[in-house]
Amino acid sequence: MQNQNSTATATAPPQQQPNNHFPSSLSNAILFNLRDHKPKPTLLLYTFLAISLFSLTLILSLSLSSSSSTPHSGPDPFLYPTRRLIFDKSTPSPPSIAYLISGSRGDSGRILRLLSATYHPLNHYLLHLDPSAPHADRERVALMVQSNPIFAAAKNVHVMGKPDFAYAKGSSPLSLNLHAASILLRLSVGWDWFVSLGADAYPLVTQDDLLHILSFLPKDMNFVNHSSYIGWKEARKLKPIIVDPGLYLSEGTEMFYATQKRELPSAYRLFTGSSFSILSRSFMEFCLLGADNFPRILLMYFANTPSSLSNYFPTVLCNSRQFNRTVINQNLLYGIYDNHRNDLRPLNSTDFDGMVRSGAAFAQKFQKDDPVLDLIDQKILCRSPGSVVPGGWCLGEPGNSSCLTWGDAKILRPSTGSQRLEQAIVQLLSNGTFLSHQCMYE
Ligand SMILES: *[C@@H]1O[C@H](CO)[C@@H](O)[C@H](O)[C@H]1NC(C)=O
Ligand SMILES: *[C@@H]1O[C@H](CO)[C@@H](O)[C@H](O)[C@H]1NC(C)=O
Ligand SMILES: *[C@@H]1O[C@H](CO)[C@@H](O)[C@H](O)[C@H]1NC(C)=O
Ligand SMILES: *[C@@H]1O[C@H](CO)[C@@H](O)[C@H](O)[C@H]1NC(C)=O
Ligand SMILES: *[C@@H]1O[C@H](CO)[C@@H](O)[C@H](O)[C@H]1NC(C)=O
Repeated sequence: MQNQNSTATATAPPQQQPNNHFPSSLSNAILFNLRDHKPKPTLLLYTFLAISLFSLTLILSLSLSSSSSTPHSGPDPFLYPTRRLIFDKSTPSPPSIAYLISGSRGDSGRILRLLSATYHPLNHYLLHLDPSAPHADRERVALMVQSNPIFAAAKNVHVMGKPDFAYAKGSSPLSLNLHAASILLRLSVGWDWFVSLGADAYPLVTQDDLLHILSFLPKDMNFVNHSSYIGWKEARKLKPIIVDPGLYLSEGTEMFYATQKRELPSAYRLFTGSSFSILSRSFMEFCLLGADNFPRILLMYFANTPSSLSNYFPTVLCNSRQFNRTVINQNLLYGIYDNHRNDLRPLNSTDFDGMVRSGAAFAQKFQKDDPVLDLIDQKILCRSPGSVVPGGWCLGEPGNSSCLTWGDAKILRPSTGSQRLEQAIVQLLSNGTFLSHQCMYE
């Protein structure tokens, strides 16, 4: 990380061991093995993974009790001759997430707040304000980013200067997401997952929690809500032909609906989903750089289909042999549907307990500056207004500026949020139900 070269690098060694929550050297070794050999995500792997996650707590308690009686310098090389090498690299290196944070006119404040709430020096951020926002807003956001000593040192926050239209009901948001992912692929070779957040989303765990849990999962996992069930309601939404003005007009206008409708595809199976998902780097490379033309064929099909972003990624994933086994049918996003308006309803403080209990990593949607966001900052993220969420890399005195003194970005200090997330993921994987929900033909 760039911040290690900075003059602000702290002298005090971090007090805590990295990843001190549930992993022990033993479980790390198991999981490291799993991850190191780049196994194909098969039934066996997932079962094994589920068991591993499930037994982490048990393993931890065992190893803690044994390590308290032996010097804490790692496993005895004579006792574990083959583990030695693994142990040296065994604290799983934290992964990195590439975020697109996008908004519209009047959203620059929310975008900056969301950036602070999801910030970690290991991640990469691309901020986007669509053309309905004046260019001055984009410049203001870029200026704020530049003048923040942390972002400047880590050099991992970027602002898209040339904006894309993104009409939620059309196909332009899909184009924006692919554009952003391709910029992020060029900006860094180091990230593992792509996450696209609207300005009305907010995290429910710290990045230390999220990176910590993700460090135990295979890097090719995709968290994507999907269903192949297409009843009359779904068909009504999928059959119209639209033309998204964002794709060809320089100023925003109404969506164009053709009077005729078309049949559902028969060359491949359509999967519907939701617009939020957590996508692996290998899958994004497949969509953007792959030699298989299927992602591009689908892109052309979805160009005049409503709400393409919700359906494109699930459809590519589930129709591709390389990826159909990497999908978890849950996007780790908390949201409540308003059946009348066919959209997520705004969350408020009444929903706080439900959000926490869900074990989700993010929630959507929130109204601008809703008091529940302050509650999340206070109770979950420990974030004070205007500053980033403190993590293992922040070594300063607790308070507003604890992250102005920083140490090793790879040191995570997970909080109780990681336990909630772990529980949610263990539950997803533990009893094999995820397999029966994976790209099912209904
Ligand atoms: C994944 O694709 C392969 C080959 O097309 C197929 O045999 C398999 O059933 C698919 N798996 C799922 C879960 O759809
Ligand atoms: C995603 O899927 C999960 C589980 O299948 C469900 O609980 C959740 O409501 C879905 N989210 C959306 C936005 O559809
Ligand atoms: C939160 O929203 C729900 C549903 O819209 C509403 O019933 C409730 O009164 C709201 N609570 C607060 C504190 O605004
Ligand atoms: C943190 O900043 C807020 C305003 O930005 C201020 O009210 C508060 O006193 C500060 N807290 C500490 C511990 O410095
Ligand atoms: C399997 O996990 C799901 C949650 O993903 C849960 O609802 C279900 O009850 C579990 N089934 C068993 C047999 O434990």
